[in-house]
Amino acid sequence: MSAAADHDASEWRDLNHAWWDERAPIHVESLFYRSGGGGLEDFEREDIGPVDGLSVVHPQCHIGTDMISLAKGGASTVGMDFSAAAIEGAARLAEHNGVGERTEWLVSDVYDSTAAVGGREFDLVYTGMGALCWLPDMDRWAAQMWALCRPGGHLYISEFHPMQDQLHDDDTRFERSYFPTGGDLFDEPGSYADKEATTAENVIVDFIHPVSEVVTALLAVGFVLRLFREFPFTAYARWPWLEEREEGLWYMPDDRPDIPLMYSLLLDRPS
Ligand SMILES: C[S@@+](CC[C@H](N)C(=O)[O-])C[C@H]1O[C@@H](n2cnc3c(N)ncnc32)[C@H](O)[C@@H]1O
Repeated sequence: MSAAADHDASEWRDLNHAWWDERAPIHVESLFYRSGGGGLEDFEREDIGPVDGLSVVHPQCHIGTDMISLAKGGASTVGMDFSAAAIEGAARLAEHNGVGERTEWLVSDVYDSTAAVGGREFDLVYTGMGALCWLPDMDRWAAQMWALCRPGGHLYISEFHPMQDQLHDDDTRFERSYFPTGGDLFDEPGSYADKEATTAENVIVDFIHPVSEVVTALLAVGFVLRLFREFPFTAYARWPWLEEREEGLWYMPDDRPDIPLMYSLLLDRPS
């Protein structure tokens, strides 16, 4: 019987927290992150535009690679994550990259973000790239994103498309509903960033969120949608048969139909 069968989805926070705490130090040392994985992609820079002089906050920042990219572009950044190990790694990487003074790092659950920053509001809230699948409740999440964003500011999300999450790890069989299930348990030994890593905390709870659910939650709190893009590529080579046609971006091979593999959203908080 799989280890996941011994658990249920209500344990999502403890299981996911243990999974990430164990992976964070592995990721700091991994070739995946050291060779640029986790940094901002060109399509994200295009969507966001120049960040020089902006204040930016990143809930679920993991080991800080996105914030380090934005700090290098001249932003003042705050990265938050519920994994203390991830935040410790982020602070070390920021120093190593010479942007320590432009970055602040806080340990916080995403649902406590506004309290963690003491009610501060930011020009840009940045999130995504494997963030939403860890969260059970999009309405509570959207309320936090709204409170982090200053009036006249923006929220940017780039995410793996839920359609990609529906598909089996080994091939393109559909194994999950597109629509919310309340959380699915998986055994996930090792790591996407280091396939050889030996790990003990291997059970996760993953939540699928249709794009309509994400957008509806954000519109309901008051955001205005400015940009919505879907992409035929992914920043993570989930299947070995994907083709890397641009550096760090993988596409369906010619003999398979394209499906949306990622999407991005830019929203305004009206003044
Ligand atoms: C895939 S990473 C985020 C993407 C980032 N761009 C990256 O690839 O480095 C997901 C992060 O979400 C964090 N996380 C998951 N659930 C969380 C929660 N409830 N509150 C805060 N952080 C959470 C994990 O610790 C992990 O660092």
